[in-house]
Amino acid sequence: MKAIVRTSAGTAGGRLQLQELAEPRPAAKEIVIRLAAASINPIDALIREGYGDSLFKWLRAKGPMVMGLDGAGVVSAVGSEVRDFKPGDRVMAATMPFASGFYAEAVAVKAAWACKIPAGLGMAEAAALPYAGLTAAQVLSAAGLDAPSTAGKKVLVHGGSGGIGSLLVQHLHRAGAWVASTCGGSNLEFVRGLGADQVIDYRKQDFTRLLSGMDVVINTVAPDPRARSLNEAPHLSVLKAGGTYASLISPTLTLSDVLGAPLGVAASGAWMGLAKLRWALAGKMHHWVYFRPSGARLAELARWAVEGSYRPVIGRRYPLADAAAALATVERGPARGKVLLCIDQQLLETT
Ligand SMILES: NC(=O)c1ccc[n+]([C@@H]2O[C@H](COP(=O)([O-])OP(=O)(O)OC[C@H]3O[C@@H](n4cnc5c(N)ncnc54)[C@H](OP(=O)(O)O)[C@@H]3O)[C@@H](O)[C@H]2O)c1
Repeated sequence: MKAIVRTSAGTAGGRLQLQELAEPRPAAKEIVIRLAAASINPIDALIREGYGDSLFKWLRAKGPMVMGLDGAGVVSAVGSEVRDFKPGDRVMAATMPFASGFYAEAVAVKAAWACKIPAGLGMAEAAALPYAGLTAAQVLSAAGLDAPSTAGKKVLVHGGSGGIGSLLVQHLHRAGAWVASTCGGSNLEFVRGLGADQVIDYRKQDFTRLLSGMDVVINTVAPDPRARSLNEAPHLSVLKAGGTYASLISPTLTLSDVLGAPLGVAASGAWMGLAKLRWALAGKMHHWVYFRPSGARLAELARWAVEGSYRPVIGRRYPLADAAAALATVERGPARGKVLLCIDQQLLETT
């Protein structure tokens, strides 16, 4: 099968190569998916350059490093202990950055990280949903925004035009929250169309002067995730007393790259614990959120997508061989939904 492999990383720039690899075979609890499409996530561009290598190398098996965290296709083989899937099922899945990737014609993935695609959800949307969708859902849970009490809450979503932010804005609007969102100037109307009540151009406007008394602030923005400090004080300033801040931007991978994996993880735990304590003393709650794969949760999100409150927005599409160009599009921005790698046109059209 053909796959996009990272052949080098680091200061010289990460290199990607289209290579011919052996067909994956499923372990006992895995399925093999023939991929119709994979999605490009902004973190892929960083991983190509070596971001998180210390931790991921510690955890990953030897072998070529195939890029890509999520996608959709059709099951072609199942492991001996898999009961919930059979060859021919249309499925979507997301994986961890240290496991086999989705920029490929086929991938072996844990069955527990996949779900069947429900009727009413197209293959392209299914490919765009898993990684961003699960991360967004995990933010909603951490911030206490997956309960009926979400209605009437004032929520600020930073980065409402992005893959994750666009899902959050839609879902919170449908759930009855009052939603403010930051994004680039060219995306203001797009984010308003997703349901934001107030949109803020982060290049021209200062959200701390426009907002106050927010129940929840969600941060999906890292202008430079490798920066050594996270300036979170502005977010604290717009929260009401007892309010919640939930962030996708943590120092874990950066510290692991600087200090080595075990020490970096320990240092990041201590750093985050202290920050949490500081926020608690100011009467506010701080949650860091990390992506976790889960087929069961994904099945729930796929139902939300069919109902219309969690529809992934699809941006540009590229063939598998043009993965580097697709990544460059994501790096250049501005973002508007998910960039896709279309791997098998015939499978993409299956319903
Ligand atoms: N913790 C985890 O496990 C985890 C998991 C997944 C993702 N993440 C992180 O979450 C972040 C978002 O992912 P994504 O897929 O949604 O990215 P994305 O599609 O690239 O979206 C990023 C958004 O940020 C906006 N933006 C950029 N600079 C901004 C600023 N200074 N103020 C406000 N908004 C700004 C962009 O707006 P315009 O394009 O309109 O300019 C865009 O809407 C990434 O940094 C990723 O690494 C973390």
